[in-house]
Amino acid sequence: MGIEFVDLFNQWASSYDDTVAGKDPEYREVFEGYHDMLEELADLSLSPVIEFGVGTANLTRKMVDKNKVVIGIEPSEEMRRIAAMKCPEAAIYEGDFINYPSLQTPVQSIVSSFAFHHLKADEKIAALAKYYHQLEAKGQIIFIDTLFKDEDHKQTLIKNAEKAGFLNLAQDLQEEYYSCLEDLKEMFLTQGFEVSFKQLNKYAWLIQAKKGE
Ligand SMILES: C[S@@+](CC[C@H](N)C(=O)[O-])C[C@H]1O[C@@H](n2cnc3c(N)ncnc32)[C@H](O)[C@@H]1O
Repeated sequence: MGIEFVDLFNQWASSYDDTVAGKDPEYREVFEGYHDMLEELADLSLSPVIEFGVGTANLTRKMVDKNKVVIGIEPSEEMRRIAAMKCPEAAIYEGDFINYPSLQTPVQSIVSSFAFHHLKADEKIAALAKYYHQLEAKGQIIFIDTLFKDEDHKQTLIKNAEKAGFLNLAQDLQEEYYSCLEDLKEMFLTQGFEVSFKQLNKYAWLIQAKKGE
């Protein structure tokens, strides 16, 4: 479910760290401040953590360096191979946001960076419903992802990408399932979470949600 992009990630895995380092001009603004953003998320996370869409384990590495116990879930075999080399201390399993091995460990934080947009709206809701039960009473969901303030903002970012000649980025912004802020807020609220949003760069937002009282 929601893993139709896996072939693309198997192909992207070996050059992914170059992209987040800003070597691809099309995605430079998307990942601007990447390591600082992940550092902020790593600081906020409470152990034990489940991380979805681990990729090449850049966030995993930062959380483990802060002595947090991390269970990673990643659908792409090639990403898992690189992640296991970069962060052998973390247990990284095959799976996705909704289908993942059942865990006996109490979970304090569910985290993810640049991945939740791979789920369609109904899949995002199904994942949040599952996480409400997975998390301990004071547990939190902490995500970083590209968001649009609203539909007008989405169209503006797509047009600007096209004008700059960033046609792959423009296509991604149209075809992947990036949320508008109010829609995502509603999804969290209806699943029993209190949620807050903070913009981190032109595209990325920090999303923090805790179980309502
Ligand atoms: C843009 S990368 C982000 C990787 C890493 N979290 C980071 O911040 O650099 C997106 C990752 O999400 C994974 N992914 C794609 N669909 C997914 C799904 N349905 N559930 C979980 N992860 C998924 C991809 O394989 C890829 O590793």
